[in-house]
Amino acid sequence: MRVIRVADYQEMSDLCASLVVAQIKAKPDIVLGVPTGGTPLGMYARLVETFRAGEVDVRRASFFNLDEYVGLPHEHAQSYHAYMRRHLYDQVEDAFTPENLHVPDGNAGDLQKACESYEAAIRAAGGMDLCMLGIGANGHVAFNEPGCSLASRVRVVRLAERTVLDNARFFADPATVPRHAMTMGTGTIRDARALILLASGEGKAAAVAAALEGPVTSRCPASIVQLHPRVVFLVDEAAASGLTVRHPSWEEYRSDPHAETFLFQ
Ligand code: PGA
Repeated sequence: MRVIRVADYQEMSDLCASLVVAQIKAKPDIVLGVPTGGTPLGMYARLVETFRAGEVDVRRASFFNLDEYVGLPHEHAQSYHAYMRRHLYDQVEDAFTPENLHVPDGNAGDLQKACESYEAAIRAAGGMDLCMLGIGANGHVAFNEPGCSLASRVRVVRLAERTVLDNARFFADPATVPRHAMTMGTGTIRDARALILLASGEGKAAAVAAALEGPVTSRCPASIVQLHPRVVFLVDEAAASGLTVRHPSWEEYRSDPHAETFLFQ
């Protein structure tokens, strides 16, 4: 596991985007797991610039969202369908292949069947090569809330009270925050061949410390990263403030002559 300290949100976003672009260049038909929320916005903005500049071709790449609210219409501004269009897919004309863009269908008539289809679609695409993740203040990854199975697959979950409160900032009326979501499971995420986690800000410090230095436990679903063989965890100084192990900064890390070989290990 490679934990890298970055100065701030901007450095985290730029670095993450450059790692993703390098992975796409290395494998143009890459299968990506993609997050929503506040944390990845800077990374998407950098990707948009890169894609607009034509620096990398993403037409063969596949994108699978980690999760989606249940019962929120796709057109609703806070749905993750709308989020992805607003921040990435509609930002660069003709960059993406529509059939390769997947978001769980939280409005399916048969939600159970939709969960199974989503899991099957990831498998049919060849499995995720790289899954990007934020971390919740309560230690969740995707919408795998504390107490979940660490082997779970795509399923419908009830959101933790803390998550509903955290996400209320995005809704005009906090009472309308959905209570359920369809999410990749921790088992689905662990099957990805590589993970990149992002954490920024003091509000994430306790969750980051629990994920990296606490026990592997369902109390902190993000602690599954300790069991994954290929992880890069980008943590800004504020989010790293609860860690006792000192991790290298990006400058320190990349000055190591073997840096390339350690990344994702
Ligand atoms: P945030 O959410 O990026 O909006 O803080 C992260 C998460 O809940 O996984």
